[in-house]
Amino acid sequence: MIILGIETSCDESAASIIKFDKRRGHLFVLANIISSQIDIHKKYGGVIPEVAAREHVGQIIPVIDTALKKANLNYKKIDYIAVTKGPGLITSLLSGVETARSLAFAWEKPIIEVNHIAGHIYANFIDNYKQIKYPALILTVSGGHTNLILMDKDFKLKIIGETLDDAAGEAYDKAAKMLGLGYPGGPLIAKQAQIYSEQINKEGESNIFLPRPMLNDKTFNFSFSGLKTALLYKLQKDKNWRKRIPEYCFKFQEAVNSVLIKKTITAATKYQVKSVLLSGGVSANLDLREKLEKAVKGMSEKTKFFCPQLQYTTDNAAMIATAGLFLALKGKTKNFSQIKADPNWDLH
Ligand code: KG4
Ligand code: ZN
Repeated sequence: MIILGIETSCDESAASIIKFDKRRGHLFVLANIISSQIDIHKKYGGVIPEVAAREHVGQIIPVIDTALKKANLNYKKIDYIAVTKGPGLITSLLSGVETARSLAFAWEKPIIEVNHIAGHIYANFIDNYKQIKYPALILTVSGGHTNLILMDKDFKLKIIGETLDDAAGEAYDKAAKMLGLGYPGGPLIAKQAQIYSEQINKEGESNIFLPRPMLNDKTFNFSFSGLKTALLYKLQKDKNWRKRIPEYCFKFQEAVNSVLIKKTITAATKYQVKSVLLSGGVSANLDLREKLEKAVKGMSEKTKFFCPQLQYTTDNAAMIATAGLFLALKGKTKNFSQIKADPNWDLH
């Protein structure tokens, strides 16, 4: 079974081709092409929807063409087209959905509508789908979402916790803006935090304290906007903050990650899950990956930790094709006239 995945929900125009050998149970990513608009949006400090949509329109066909060439495949070999239906920016989503519709019409292929968050979750299945055991708990942390999701079986997903305000990635992006680091903020903060952690033994402990919002409340919800404001107040009071940027980044990353990890482990223990999965753009954060893995290992021998390869953490189409594969196996396909972008599409 061969699936073409298309992803345009935000600022990456992406296409991927995966091959699934049902008999042997092997999944191969034949091509994973991403045309990023980061350099364009950097100038504005964030994504401008109208600009993103225009870029997608120009990029998506060449990206699909490159994916077909990389996979060394004629379009006739494709069995299904999987496309991100939502959630995301409506004008960005439309360019992917309308491209998928046109190709499905011209090539006479069925379409699979994929939820973007489900795509992030299924990024974990690209390399590990045989090893992931249910029930599983997934921490999905991206620029738009922060969710704890319980998965009882394939596509049986229940959100048990979510952010009440900013998403974790959004908090990283806003903090980086305050610190004058640029966009996207997550990798830039992580880099600065790494610089500080290499100095930490020489300089002793930091005296900066940032709050850990909702760390000890009884829910699995999150809140990051107070942390962002606390950082702003600290910077306003500190005349020397420009000389202490790595230290502020270290403390900010430590505050975000400690809340994410504590809530994930509490939920994993409560629901006695067999697998803990990390996904979304913020799962590229090495400190989070390492610390969550260690914490899961400390739970019990029976609970296993999974996270996607770095190339499948931020937005990509291999994750959309993989989620599409699992939907195709359930017969959840449509024809070109039945599909529609939905910027607020709930995960289900
Ligand atoms: O999943 P993604 O590519 O797009 C959305 O669906 O939102 O996530 C992008 C987010 C951005 O907020 C970015 O700052 C964050 O992921 N991010 C990181 C890292 N790499 C990307 N956050 C923390 N540490 C990183 N290394
Ligand atoms: Zn995403």
